[in-house]
Amino acid sequence: MNYFHYKDKELWCEEVPVTDIVSAVGTPFYLYSQRTLKHHFRVFDVAFSGVPHITCFAVKSNSNIAVLRIFIAAGSGVDIVSGGELYRALQAGVDTSKVVYSGVGKKVDEIEYALKSDILMFNAESSQELEVINSCAQRLGKKAGVALRVNPDVDPETHPHISTGLMSNKFGIDIKKSLEEYRRARMLKHVDVKGVSCHIGSQVTKISPFLDALRHLKKLVRLLREEGMDIQYLDLGGGLGITYDKEDVPHPSEYAKAIIDASKDINCTFIFEPGRVIVGNAGILITEVLYTKSNDAKNFIIVDAGMNDLVRPSLYNSYHQIRPVIEKEREEIIADVVGPICESGDYLAKGRKIFRFERGELMAVMSAGAYGFTMSSNYNSRGRIPEVLVSDGQFFVIRKREVYADLIRGEEIPDFLR
Ligand code: LLP
Repeated sequence: MNYFHYKDKELWCEEVPVTDIVSAVGTPFYLYSQRTLKHHFRVFDVAFSGVPHITCFAVKSNSNIAVLRIFIAAGSGVDIVSGGELYRALQAGVDTSKVVYSGVGKKVDEIEYALKSDILMFNAESSQELEVINSCAQRLGKKAGVALRVNPDVDPETHPHISTGLMSNKFGIDIKKSLEEYRRARMLKHVDVKGVSCHIGSQVTKISPFLDALRHLKKLVRLLREEGMDIQYLDLGGGLGITYDKEDVPHPSEYAKAIIDASKDINCTFIFEPGRVIVGNAGILITEVLYTKSNDAKNFIIVDAGMNDLVRPSLYNSYHQIRPVIEKEREEIIADVVGPICESGDYLAKGRKIFRFERGELMAVMSAGAYGFTMSSNYNSRGRIPEVLVSDGQFFVIRKREVYADLIRGEEIPDFLR
């Protein structure tokens, strides 16, 4: 359920016609609906209201500080994977007792920043990292809350690039070795072992892989408790999928019910790290058709958004629905929707059955709220595009369009070249 809809054949975001925003900010831009963001967060969070839990929004999926602020105001914590994400979350006013820090390559300065910020816990992913966390905490005279991120070796049955809980993936600590690792961790004086965590992958469209992971984690929690470790938190990560095309995905309430039913016998505070399921369908990308052309083999629709703005189709061959901002009667063709970047892999859709768009028309690329702007780049020296938030009948530019000067910020010509 989202608040992008057609009224008199025109696409609106809540109570605002998309064309009004185009007139003010130009194209391309990302557009988010606050009502949808709030609704998705609430649906997820309320689904777990029967159990102690913290919903820690995954900042990597959409890290704009205004977007973070919406969730934080609704009681969210955050899942971070870098010092930069912590900085953003702090700017957005996060309660640091609801921050979990994941990732295989945390650096010393990032660990120290997180310790100084008094975050809830690190999801540590290797024994060397644990040692480093311990020594950083010692230096700062602190005790670091820690969970070990275990790799439960379950198949999330998703795209290989976004599956993370298999032995062949770099993430986590082999669950078979985790008991020894926990024993070592509890001996570290500046580490407070308080949880168990995992994240099996993203865009997971079935509940069963989550239940498999939960079963492994519960077993581990029991073993650790038998050894006297005070395991309070069970972090199941994120990963619940959304509908981009026709995927039949579990509703968050089904996902929650299955997890709650399977964990009656374990007394833990749950942590969830949802990203995509909250923001994915709350954002779209608006782009304008620059040119159309055909050859004997193909029709091309060339638009002003490229793989530097939305890389998912190029990177994962992922599908995003494409709709006209203004509907009218017209024939359908098979075409590639491509961007201006000098790469053959620069496309938003390939071999797509699509309306015959014309030069100057506006297109909405749907389901672009997650891993859209956050994965964008300046490739081909293109400024990153604005992010716009609609709320209560108004729209707000929550990130400005980059200008040429932004492109060379920080660059210098050394004296010998002058
Ligand atoms: N927690 C951890 C430790 C993660 O690594 C991730 C995502 C999440 C939570 C949030 O997962 P979500 O609920 O959004 O599925 N760029 C890819 C997705 C990469 C996901 C990486 N980790 C894409 O565009 O599909």
